[in-house]
Amino acid sequence: MSIPPFIIVAIDGGAASGKSSSSRTLSDRFNLLHVDTGSFYRALTAELLRREVKPADLPAVQAALADIALGTRVEGRSAQMEIAGRVVPDAEIRTRHVNDHVSHFAAIPEVRTALLEYQRSQAAVARARDFRGLVMEGRDIGSVIFPDATFRFFLHAHPEERARRRASEGGQDSISERDRLDTSRKTAPLACPPGAISIDTTHLTLAEVVETMAKPIAEKLAS
Ligand code: CDP
Ligand code: CDP
Repeated sequence: MSIPPFIIVAIDGGAASGKSSSSRTLSDRFNLLHVDTGSFYRALTAELLRREVKPADLPAVQAALADIALGTRVEGRSAQMEIAGRVVPDAEIRTRHVNDHVSHFAAIPEVRTALLEYQRSQAAVARARDFRGLVMEGRDIGSVIFPDATFRFFLHAHPEERARRRASEGGQDSISERDRLDTSRKTAPLACPPGAISIDTTHLTLAEVVETMAKPIAEKLAS
């Protein structure tokens, strides 16, 4: 009897390109652990802000990172990051304050290094809990975290359409400024890595985006 393959699906893209919605659907459909790495950067940012650490103060950033203990809690099919044993709730990580600071902290190489192995370790979490694999979304998953992922997708959409999507969700978010910072940083910039499947979602419904990704995944799992 052959053992079904453990698959890793990497989904990268700018803000409101459709990463979270599509990866949640793929997670449910194929029993994959869903890992939203943006929520990790957000939770770490909320904690650094709580400690009144400024992105420009590298020694303070490093001291805080050395002091922050990370853990993982799996809720349903979703991996949640714990800081000192507590999952930082959405209400604390999807704020204007965090939106305004997260890309500044995420541009610091030491911050990215602190999360690198933690993100990779989610594959072991998924295996230990008998998921068929994991779907991880972010900015550098297919380029840095899992360059050998079974599937690497890169979602993009016209900036005006993404702004419309985010505005219709409510809340304040300057996504063009975050995109500018995320694409221009030196370490792990947001970009479609060579060989990734690029999908322009501007004129696609969410269901069409999901089907584009689900087809090759279903074929692989049936093989
Ligand atoms: O949901 P949205 O696409 O607006 O953002 P997010 O995925 O929650 O990510 C928030 C921020 O975290 C991004 O703007 C990046 O600065 C950072 N991030 C990153 O640098 N690398 C990742 N793999 C994921 C997020
Ligand atoms: O995770 P990310 O920031 O990339 O985007 P998202 O949270 O999945 O999507 C942002 C919003 O756009 C959600 O309300 C989605 O339902 C919507 N969306 C859409 O209308 N059409 C798409 N093709 C993709 C997302």
